[in-house]
Amino acid sequence: MGAIVILGAQFGDEGKGKISDVLAKDAHVVARFQGGGNAGHTLVIGDRTIALHLLPSGICHEDKMNIVGPGVVCDLEVLVQELALAREFGSRVLLDEQTPIVLPIHRMMDAVREVALGARAIGSTKRGIGPAYSDFWLRRSVTLGDLRSADSVRAVLTRGRYMEEMFGAWSLVRGEQIRIEQVDVRVHPMHLDDTIDLLMSFADRVVPHIGDTRACVHRALDDGKNVLFEGAQGVMLDAYHGSRPFVTSSLCTSAGVSATFGVHTFDRVIGVAKAYPTRVGAGPFPTELQDERGEELRRRGHEFGTTTGRPRRCGYLDLPALRQARRVSGIEEFVITKLDILTDLEDLFVCDHYIDVDDYTTLTCSVLENAKPHLLRMPGWNEDLSNCRHYKELPAAARAYIELIEKQTGTVVSGIGVGAERNQILWR
Ligand code: GDP
Ligand code: IMO
Ligand code: MG
Repeated sequence: MGAIVILGAQFGDEGKGKISDVLAKDAHVVARFQGGGNAGHTLVIGDRTIALHLLPSGICHEDKMNIVGPGVVCDLEVLVQELALAREFGSRVLLDEQTPIVLPIHRMMDAVREVALGARAIGSTKRGIGPAYSDFWLRRSVTLGDLRSADSVRAVLTRGRYMEEMFGAWSLVRGEQIRIEQVDVRVHPMHLDDTIDLLMSFADRVVPHIGDTRACVHRALDDGKNVLFEGAQGVMLDAYHGSRPFVTSSLCTSAGVSATFGVHTFDRVIGVAKAYPTRVGAGPFPTELQDERGEELRRRGHEFGTTTGRPRRCGYLDLPALRQARRVSGIEEFVITKLDILTDLEDLFVCDHYIDVDDYTTLTCSVLENAKPHLLRMPGWNEDLSNCRHYKELPAAARAYIELIEKQTGTVVSGIGVGAERNQILWR
C-alpha cells in the first residue's frame, strides 16, 4: 500500500470520508492535510452515523495513528469533541505543533465578509477558514504548539499590533446586529484576555496530543508502513484549480500533501467522485439541474450539507470537469460513489464536453459560467444496487455508465459505492 492519497474530484461531499474509513482498516497512519471545520465527512458504521469535521476517518478504528497536519486550520471546539470520539474508539491522535488555530475573530470575519459581499458572496461555511489561512500566510497564526503556555498565545496576539489591526477592522461593524443563515449574530470585538482565556481553556485536552507529525509520517513510510492522506473539499474548490473566487482557501490536490508533509511520491492517488456532482455555496456549476430533476436527486441522495445543513445543488455528471480534476491533481484512479442513487432515474444524461471549449482550457470561473454542456443520454436501470458486491453483478447499464467514465477520463474506476455503509462498496 505505501502512501495513498484520497482527494475529492468535484465540489466536495463526494464521499471521501467513507472511502477513507474503509481504507483505514489497512493503514497504520491516517492524516488530514488541509481544510478545517468546513469539512463534513459522514460515516455510517453499523447503526451509528458519525460526522467528522477535523480528525481523519481513521479515528473510528481501534489503534490507528490519526494525524492533523500543519496544513489544516484547527477549530478547538470541534477538535475536543472529536478527540473524545477518538478516545471512545481507542484510536490515537497526533496534532502538529505548527497547525494554525481558527480564532473566534476569524469566524466573525468570515461571516461579516459574506454579508458584505451580498450577491457575490462565496457561500462559505462561515467556519473562519479564509481568514485563518490569511493569517497563516501573513505568518502570524496562533498555533497548537502555542497552547503550551498562555504567554506564547499572548505574544503572538500582541506582536505587530495584531489586536489593534483586528480591532480596527471590527470598529466598522462593532455592535451591529447581522443575520447569518437565519441566525442573529451580535458582532463584537475580540478582547485580548477573553481570547487567551478561551484558547487556554482547551489546552489541557489538546497539548498531550501535540507532536511532530512530519517525523511520524516519514518514519512510518521509511518503515514500510501504510499512510493514508485524507483530503477535504475537492479539486473544483482548490484555491488554484477551482472556480476562484468561489473556492476554499487551501490546496485540495496531492500538492497539498507535498506542500505540508513533504511527501512527493505516492503509491495510489484516488479521486473520489460522486455519480452525479453536487455543490454547496455559490459559484458556477454548468451541469446543475435547477428544476425538479435536481430536487429529485437531492431527495434521493439526501443531499444536505453535513456541516451547514444547506441543500446541495445537484447536477449531471460533468466529464470535462473530471478530466481537468484528474489532470491537475495527481489522481490516477477514480472511486465513483452513490451509483445506487441513480437507480430508477428516468432521464440519465452526462456531459461529455462543453460546446466550443477546447478540452485543455483551464476551467476558470468565467469559462465555467459561460460553458454550455453537451449532454449524452445514457440508458438507465431499475435494479437495486445496494447488495451488489462484484462488478459483474451490476446491471449492464450501470456498467456502461462506469465504463463511459473510464473511457472519457482515461482513468480506471477502481471502486464503486452502492450505499453508505462500510461494506457497500465494490472493488475491481
Ligand atoms: P465527504 O465530505 O466527501 O466525506 O462526503 P459527505 O460525507 O459530506 O457526503 C457523502 C454522503 O454520502 C454521506 O452521507 C455518506 O454516508 C454517503 N455515501 C457515501 N458513499 C455512498 C454511496 O456509495 N451510496 C450512498 N447511497 N451513500 C453514500
Ligand atoms: P467536504 O470535505 C462541500 C465550500 C463552501 C463554499 C466554499 C468556500 O465535506 O467535502 P469555506 O468555508 O471553505 O471558505 O467555503 O467551499 N466548501 C465545501 N463544500 N464540502 C466541503 O467539505 C466544503 N468545504 C467548503 O460551501 O462554497
Ligand atoms: Mg462533506
